[in-house]
Amino acid sequence: MERTFAIIKPDAFAAGDAGKILARIYAEGFKVVGIKKLYMSKVEAEGFYYVHKERPFFGELTDFMSSGPCIVMVLEAAGAIKKWRDLMGATNPAEADEGTLRKEFGRSIGENATHGSDAPETAAFEIPYFFSGLELL
Ligand code: RTP
Ligand code: MG
Repeated sequence: MERTFAIIKPDAFAAGDAGKILARIYAEGFKVVGIKKLYMSKVEAEGFYYVHKERPFFGELTDFMSSGPCIVMVLEAAGAIKKWRDLMGATNPAEADEGTLRKEFGRSIGENATHGSDAPETAAFEIPYFFSGLELL
């Protein structure tokens, strides 16, 4: 079993799509090991996305991620990292396959409904950024 870190981003949360996204998560067979709502500060968003700090969209991305509440989660499944990336679809909803979460719930390349770790090392940073061991029992 593998764990990945996932976010229902502020756009999807504000639109009231969190319940539908969670239903898909359960239907696809993930175990929800950790889940909570939080309202990230700008500084917290910058720390989370520090790998993108040199990218032109860093300011826009961290403004968006701190623009409203989101839901952060730890999901467990066989091959959870790829399985969750596949369910999310391409970064740009306009290029995402039919049936993916970003196709159904994303608005734009920036406001794209969900986040997922892209590798085991990324998950190993992202999970403890938001969850303590006690929250994942
Ligand atoms: P994520 O990290 O959120 O799961 O998304 P990802 O791997 O598919 O995409 P990544 O390249 O890591 O980009 C992180 C997030 O930055 C925003 N973005 N905006 N305006 C733009 O050109 C642009 N490009 C990326 C998106 O919110 C993307 O999910
Ligand atoms: Mg990424």
